[in-house]
Amino acid sequence: MQDLYIQAEAFISSMQQFERTQLNEREFIKRLDEIKYSIKTTGTYCHTKEELAFGAKLAWRNSNRCVGRHFWKQLDVFDCRKLNDAPSVFKALEHHIEHAFNHGSIKSTITIFAPRNASAETADVVRILNHQLIRYAGFENSDKTILGDPHSKSLTESLLSNGWIPRSKTAFTPMPWWIEINGKKIEPYAIFESKAHLLNEIKLEHPDNKNFNQLGLKWYSMPILSDMALVIGGIVYPCAPFNGWYMGTEIGARNLADEERYNCLPKIAEVFRLDNKNNRTLWRDRAIVELNRAVLYSFDRDKVRIGDHHNITRQFEKFCENEGKAKCPITGDWSWLVPPISASQTPTFYQEFDPNVVKHTNFFYQNDLHKSIHSGETTKNGFKKSKCPYHLN
Ligand code: ARG
Repeated sequence: MQDLYIQAEAFISSMQQFERTQLNEREFIKRLDEIKYSIKTTGTYCHTKEELAFGAKLAWRNSNRCVGRHFWKQLDVFDCRKLNDAPSVFKALEHHIEHAFNHGSIKSTITIFAPRNASAETADVVRILNHQLIRYAGFENSDKTILGDPHSKSLTESLLSNGWIPRSKTAFTPMPWWIEINGKKIEPYAIFESKAHLLNEIKLEHPDNKNFNQLGLKWYSMPILSDMALVIGGIVYPCAPFNGWYMGTEIGARNLADEERYNCLPKIAEVFRLDNKNNRTLWRDRAIVELNRAVLYSFDRDKVRIGDHHNITRQFEKFCENEGKAKCPITGDWSWLVPPISASQTPTFYQEFDPNVVKHTNFFYQNDLHKSIHSGETTKNGFKKSKCPYHLN
């Protein structure tokens, strides 16, 4: 419990230092005493609405892997800590999408559900099993290839064995929402079958290659991460879906391009008649640039907010400058802050970052609820996930 108080104090002090609506010295000490007493008598403490809102922003500001942190003060926060039944949780998630999409002028938004209560019988009131609120399924074919997004393979399998009957299986079938209330799984809810307008997909076209359009590629407008834990002053919010807007390369240089994801580059090379038999024609490099042009062009065509790696990394430089002025050390993860294409053409490539992870207030990965293997899970190169500094527990 001592530890919780130390984290609470670190958070309340940062808030005192950075938030405009400051407490005076007496109120500040009173608040810390209140928290200390609450932790001593109940084992936990409760954030005020102001602390919750500032805490979510600070957690974003502390997220080493996020290159979009320049906008950390502009986050819309919905306090849903009181909700404890499936219909109202679904309603809150729908509201999140509508508010955040904002007719294409996407707003960074977070919806925060109940905090973890370690002393209760089921610690977590609400959990979302989906990785993102909008994400395409990955169906395994009989020859072991995947129809759709291979990243979703295991969640798709769990959903299918828990009662999900998809209307159709395509390369872009949105997954239903799967949540747990007080430790009990609720039947998957195929929201996008009845409310397709919430998807807001962008059909990908290339500005000057008509054949590209026949590939039938598309992506959804907003990444809404829904399986990470938000930690504020040591209090864990295991369900706090949040979104920003996309940087084009996330879609064009990873989701659609990675061999282990949609693996589209060979098809794009064909459309552009590139010689893909010989690496030294740089057909992958040329195809990946064309795909990224198509992503940016198509989002712009539909007037849906998206950043490109040139402007976003320059905004990030500005963020670093501002943090410097505020005498606030910047922590960061170089391998994530550098874009996956044209790295040397962006300023982050030349910067060094302090890789420490601020623990008291941040976003963390947590164990997948739908997988049976929990702790001790390892990545491909044998790195223990539980030892990962970005992982809770
Ligand atoms: N890279 C993830 C995806 O492609 C989204 C991560 C969050 N991205 C963001 N722009 N906020 O779906």
